[in-house]
Amino acid sequence: MENNSAPKAKALSRREFIVNVSSVSAVLAAGGVLSGCGGGAETLVDFNYGVASGDPLKDRVILWTHAKYQNSVAPVDLTYEVATDPEFRSVVSSGQVVASANTGYTAKVDATGLTEGQSYFYRFVSGDSVSAVGQTRTLPSSSATEVTFSVFSCADYPLGYFNAYAEAAKRGSDFAIHLGDYIYEYGTGSMPTQTVILDLQRYADHTNEILTLDDYRKRHALYKSDPDSKILHAKIPLIAGWDDHEVSNDNYKDGAEAHDPATDGNYVDRRTVALQAYHEWMPIRTGADKMKIYRSFDFGGLVSLHMLETRNTGRDKQIAITELAGLEGTTKKARAYAEYIRADRQMLGTTQLAWLQQQMATSQATWQVLGQQVLMARMESPASVLTKLNGDSRNQNAQADGLAAITAYLTAKGKSPADRDPVETALMDLNQNPKLGYNPDAWDGYIVARETILGMALQLNKKLISLAGDTHNAWHSDLTMMGLANPALANVKVGEEFATPGVSSGGFEEYLPVFEPAQVKYLFENIVDDLRWMDSYRRGYLKMTFTAAEAKGEWIFVDQVLSRNYTSSIGHTAPYRTVKKAVTPDY
Ligand SMILES: [Fe+2]
Repeated sequence: MENNSAPKAKALSRREFIVNVSSVSAVLAAGGVLSGCGGGAETLVDFNYGVASGDPLKDRVILWTHAKYQNSVAPVDLTYEVATDPEFRSVVSSGQVVASANTGYTAKVDATGLTEGQSYFYRFVSGDSVSAVGQTRTLPSSSATEVTFSVFSCADYPLGYFNAYAEAAKRGSDFAIHLGDYIYEYGTGSMPTQTVILDLQRYADHTNEILTLDDYRKRHALYKSDPDSKILHAKIPLIAGWDDHEVSNDNYKDGAEAHDPATDGNYVDRRTVALQAYHEWMPIRTGADKMKIYRSFDFGGLVSLHMLETRNTGRDKQIAITELAGLEGTTKKARAYAEYIRADRQMLGTTQLAWLQQQMATSQATWQVLGQQVLMARMESPASVLTKLNGDSRNQNAQADGLAAITAYLTAKGKSPADRDPVETALMDLNQNPKLGYNPDAWDGYIVARETILGMALQLNKKLISLAGDTHNAWHSDLTMMGLANPALANVKVGEEFATPGVSSGGFEEYLPVFEPAQVKYLFENIVDDLRWMDSYRRGYLKMTFTAAEAKGEWIFVDQVLSRNYTSSIGHTAPYRTVKKAVTPDY
């Protein structure tokens, strides 16, 4: 429930304001309530999970909080206020919203009547109880000359502290984008990367794999209880989309790799409650169809951000790389390959794809940016190398095999064809040893769908940028055509991909522990033609800056996630380039 009538809560006095603003961080960290005097304990409300804002438009923004009486399960009537000043003297939007058991005591409202390109302060009030004060902003006016984003993915609570969130709040940006794995559904023991964190206190509340509405609500609450999450959300408006772990690992439109109906129950039921909890706990604009979260934002004619939904609405089931690469026999390989090149194989589904085409065709913005989950760039390696790398990551012999295969390949690649011995010649034979992407859950497993989107951008003559998460590592790549329908377009550059490292989830240092990070970097950068730069072991986030002339990525790393005492550095800075990376031809 909401309305936009005159403000009901009084403006804070100067003293109350100083208490509020100066203690916001401390109160947030303590998960406490900001309360005036005079309220009885029975009417005191806890705002234990801070405040958040999101999905800004030119005249409105979503405001979010969680509110619960200390001694009652009754619904909490809240007044929200949006002001141009931190003292709330100039309240420009206000109304009522209820936090009740129906929404897990979360409250979300679309605060309207705002002005474009404006910063605001907001809060929620119930009697004498007042939430923390958040800051937000609307989408910029058409005269905007620069817009900045902090881009995140993969914040696995038990694996470490969310120092990347704290750092982004400190360094600042106009908006934040979360590309998914905002929560993880795993329980203790089912987590694949847990070698270094067993003594971290954060493990204690993350013990069961979540299946029910109550489970998903509790998990979201755990993540929102994190002090650095609260600080980030109170500071920067968020545009978020889910990846797989908001429901279950490697999910697709009909199921998930990690969901076993025999033990986990009906998949659609699970997904329904998972997405309900997501909409309750995230500052996202919720429509009639909770699955349909693809949407566009226009940033002052500079950037059109198209947030894509890549998991639940249209994605066909993943292909097994072991089948595609021929490790499970020719019959399975032929079947996997037929699926791989199937003309109507989907990642987004036809409805979303048509929507995206329409959005890009009508957008006047300089930069067309896809906010999506999995790597879109062609992360291709020869099948021989790939299959060696696909072994057991804990098996040192398998990893040594992988290193030997890569070394042999790079040696052969460095020679002219006439100088290669027969083994090397066979290794470089594209027919015998085709190049495949290393992860078929990414766009490399949906090559026709990817080619369609890149082809659309090429035809529309748009500058295309993909923002990606998912891998927990940092990447900067060219986006090029495969030339599937028109060989003349093979390797034509269409855009670039800037991929953010994980906030805390483990990366290649966990999956390829035998290799030194510098080795992993060297191998990827030399094997994958379209890859300009990567980092294989550091956590952090990506800051993007757009002007009419330039798009620039800055990868900001934290030195550790096992303590909240950390240092940060800009690990790499790269501008968008229209010219493709120079590559030595290997075949
Ligand atoms: Fe992840």
